[in-house]
Amino acid sequence: MDKKLVTLNINGKSVQANVHKKDTLLFVLREELGLKGAKYGCGTGDCGACKVIIDGEAKNACVTPAIRCEGKIITTIEGIGNTENPHPIQEAFVETHAVQCGFCTPGMVVSAKALLDRNSKPTREEIREALKNNICRCTGYEKIVDAIELAASKEVFDAEQM
Ligand code: FES
Ligand code: FES
Repeated sequence: MDKKLVTLNINGKSVQANVHKKDTLLFVLREELGLKGAKYGCGTGDCGACKVIIDGEAKNACVTPAIRCEGKIITTIEGIGNTENPHPIQEAFVETHAVQCGFCTPGMVVSAKALLDRNSKPTREEIREALKNNICRCTGYEKIVDAIELAASKEVFDAEQM
């Protein structure tokens, strides 16, 4: 009832999903497409656990209607890196001990990726600003900022920007 077949561009692939007009992008990612990396935290756009990159900007998938995402370029944490092939941001989170329970980590990495893609050498203040909608209950944030600073020091971001 009231469902529509939509084509979404996710992690460089075109995928189709049967979407109700009220379905959020987070619901479609997790429940229809099996992409469980983005987490359901608050469901109200306040914690950042569900962040994905949409057309270059980190957005909360829990408050983004999936039906409005047709034609947009979506990157989820699965499109950034994984255990076998971690992204330098993910390696930096491990190196700086920026992961504790890990629930916020996918959202943090997604926000960091969106930041470093547009600003490869951010200041700590700019990093904090980019993370202002990402909540972490465990780390006190300093190690997360350290991780993103470390990742930014790796040449890969300069290379990716070229
Ligand atoms: S689950 Fe989306 S912002 Fe908290
Ligand atoms: S590491 Fe636990 S919420 Fe951030």
